[in-house]
Amino acid sequence: MQYIDLAPTLSFSRFIQGYWRLKAWGKSTQELLTLVKQGLDAGINTLDHAACYGAFTSEGEFGKVLAADKGLRQQLNIVTKCGILYPNAELPEVKSHHYDNSYRHIIWSAERSIRQLRCEYLDLLLIHRLSPCADPAQIARAFEQLRLEGKVRHFGVSNCTPAKFSMLQSYVAQPLVTNQIEISPLHLAPFEDGSLDFLLEKRIKPMAWSALGGGRLFSAQDQCSRRVVQTLAQIGEEKGESRLDTLAYAWLLAHPAQIMPIIGSGKTERIKNAVDALNISFSEEEWIKVYVAARGQDIP
Ligand SMILES: NC(=O)c1ccc[n+]([C@@H]2O[C@H](COP(=O)([O-])OP(=O)(O)OC[C@H]3O[C@@H](n4cnc5c(N)ncnc54)[C@H](OP(=O)(O)O)[C@@H]3O)[C@@H](O)[C@H]2O)c1
Repeated sequence: MQYIDLAPTLSFSRFIQGYWRLKAWGKSTQELLTLVKQGLDAGINTLDHAACYGAFTSEGEFGKVLAADKGLRQQLNIVTKCGILYPNAELPEVKSHHYDNSYRHIIWSAERSIRQLRCEYLDLLLIHRLSPCADPAQIARAFEQLRLEGKVRHFGVSNCTPAKFSMLQSYVAQPLVTNQIEISPLHLAPFEDGSLDFLLEKRIKPMAWSALGGGRLFSAQDQCSRRVVQTLAQIGEEKGESRLDTLAYAWLLAHPAQIMPIIGSGKTERIKNAVDALNISFSEEEWIKVYVAARGQDIP
């Protein structure tokens, strides 16, 4: 496993386990514990959650895992996110789908995440989506209080444009350590809209969500997926590698931005497929072949 330093006191495994789909996996606490331990055996020490996952129940389910093995928490980096609200059975007071980036909500959400996850502190708290009417001064105040109280060690954002990132950073005292964004061969926007250029310039390492297109790569039902799959398979043949997920991850890893893909599957074999990507390199020529396949037209 490779490890990426996001800050002097924060080192993430290159691959991160994501828990958005935890509810759909239908795993027992024991099975989830096994998944975390298998991840740790493979070197994955970083887990991604969000307050709103599983209609605000997933953190609580995961908290049972940490409660079942008291030694686990200290081996893990726990990332969670706040700020997205939608009607759900856990929080009946929420009446509509909206964002809340207020001081009060960030404090409330972080404290709830800590209780639900039974983890005492969060290693990294992200603003899940920056509201178009977010008050950055309130976010900064909430972050500072959570840091001073020892509840959150580090802070960052998700789904932020470079402009929003810079704007928020100008208010927040601590360095924002990452931007968690969608990056995959089926979502090229960050390669083209300045998102990755900005992060490279600032030496900030991105976390990549839906790195396999949310599974779209495997159904190959659209033209773009079909072209990408065919190109990855051709390149894989030359490398003696036939696993599509391994090849797609290797393509992401080859980019200089030091992208940290978040694994969305709860299946052990997929963890191995991901980690094996660390042993596969892409030349720039091969990388561009996949890029051109994804674009659907040649580069200028
Ligand atoms: N910040 C944000 O706004 C945001 C948004 C979305 C997600 N996220 C984070 O990113 C994580 C990953 O996102 P994601 O779940 O969309 O990632 P993903 O890895 O692109 O998609 C996961 C899906 O791909 C399928 N899959 C993976 N490998 C496969 C294979 N070899 N063959 C067939 N199907 C395969 C999985 O099915 P199986 O379960 O059958 O393996 C699962 O349905 C989430 O858990 C969450 O932590 C963040």
